[in-house]
Amino acid sequence: MLLVFKLQLIFLISILNYTSLQRVNPLPQYWDYQREGPDTWQQRYNACNGRAQSPINIRTCLVKYDKNLNPLCLNDFMVNTSLYVWNFTHNGHTIVVYPPTSVRLSITGANLSEIFYLVQFHFHWGYNAYQGSEHTIDGIKYPLEIHFVHEAQFSSSLTVLCVLFNLQVDDNPYINDLLSILNQTRNASIAIEKQIDISPLFPTFFSPRFYRYIGSLTTPPCTEGIIWIVLASTVPISENQLKIFIDNSVPSNFRDPQKLNSRNILVNFEPEKNLEVNDDYNKCIRRSSVCIEQRSILLISLVLFIFILQ
Ligand SMILES: *[C@@H]1O[C@H](CO)[C@@H](O)[C@H](O)[C@H]1NC(C)=O
Ligand SMILES: *[C@@H]1O[C@H](CO)[C@@H](O)[C@H](O)[C@H]1NC(C)=O
Ligand SMILES: *[C@@H]1O[C@H](CO)[C@@H](O)[C@H](O)[C@H]1NC(C)=O
Ligand SMILES: *[C@@H]1O[C@H](CO)[C@@H](O)[C@H](O)[C@H]1NC(C)=O
Ligand SMILES: *[C@@H]1O[C@H](CO)[C@@H](O)[C@H](O)[C@H]1NC(C)=O
Repeated sequence: MLLVFKLQLIFLISILNYTSLQRVNPLPQYWDYQREGPDTWQQRYNACNGRAQSPINIRTCLVKYDKNLNPLCLNDFMVNTSLYVWNFTHNGHTIVVYPPTSVRLSITGANLSEIFYLVQFHFHWGYNAYQGSEHTIDGIKYPLEIHFVHEAQFSSSLTVLCVLFNLQVDDNPYINDLLSILNQTRNASIAIEKQIDISPLFPTFFSPRFYRYIGSLTTPPCTEGIIWIVLASTVPISENQLKIFIDNSVPSNFRDPQKLNSRNILVNFEPEKNLEVNDDYNKCIRRSSVCIEQRSILLISLVLFIFILQ
């Protein structure tokens, strides 16, 4: 009895510390973020020149609040996933993390037509702590961005759930385990299997706020028709913690925001009235109270001006 218990204990302990490191042969690369960078991608991959590309700059005064948009459900993402063995592989462009085949994390809601299962997640970072994200909000860059790529059960269409990080002074202790694995996955010759809990990457509250729009893959072949769900709440990270990306064989891997063109960005919450929208880049020309306020101030000044002239 005791022996069985001891054996079970040993088994459990070995499971809890499970790590496997494997050398792999990197694939040849035809694009990157330097000499073969984003500006050149369209020469080899036509879709990269499309009209519904990702990422985008989300102008909060242009987003459309849709109160009929149903809540986003992150199924099983928020539970402690520390028993799951994830596969961390550097593919020459980023670090890709594959879920264990036995585990099916999924997203539903947010007006998705069916259930979307997580197939991988990966990272986008920059040269320093003041850049790195692909999506920007009101022109602001964030230091790190994760894309959780989901595939539909039947149609095999894709939805990407996007999590942005915000810079803070103190370390975020909940992501240290994850960062130490990313730190070991520095180049395309290493794949690591490791047990880790990814729940600290998600907001803890039910029904997270999100932006939703239709876009593309942010890397070649830049395929369009992908639903993007960008979470409005961010995960904190310190400048010190971001240092692990400096040693990566890929020094920076974000694409700049692409034209929105005629696309709508829907949100499931009423955006705050951001009154700091004053520079040209962020000037909003459509809808939104901010824009109307600005226009009415202009109108009042004009009327006053004419009045003074008379
Ligand atoms: C989302 O679904 C709800 C309920 O089916 C519907 O009323 C609403 O118009 C949909 N919104 C979008 C943006 O598809
Ligand atoms: C998750 O579970 C593991 C093992 O049971 C535990 O060590 C860890 O502290 C838990 N993490 C959280 C965030 O609760
Ligand atoms: C990252 O790896 C380097 C070199 O192995 C090591 O010196 C450093 O302490 C590591 N950082 C973290 C946060 O694990
Ligand atoms: C990849 O990184 C490992 C350690 O992280 C290092 O030993 C190896 O030399 C690196 N390979 C290349 C090609 O940079
Ligand atoms: C992890 O995934 C990569 C890419 O799919 C694969 O080559 C590797 O064998 C997997 N397993 C380990 C232990 O790295």
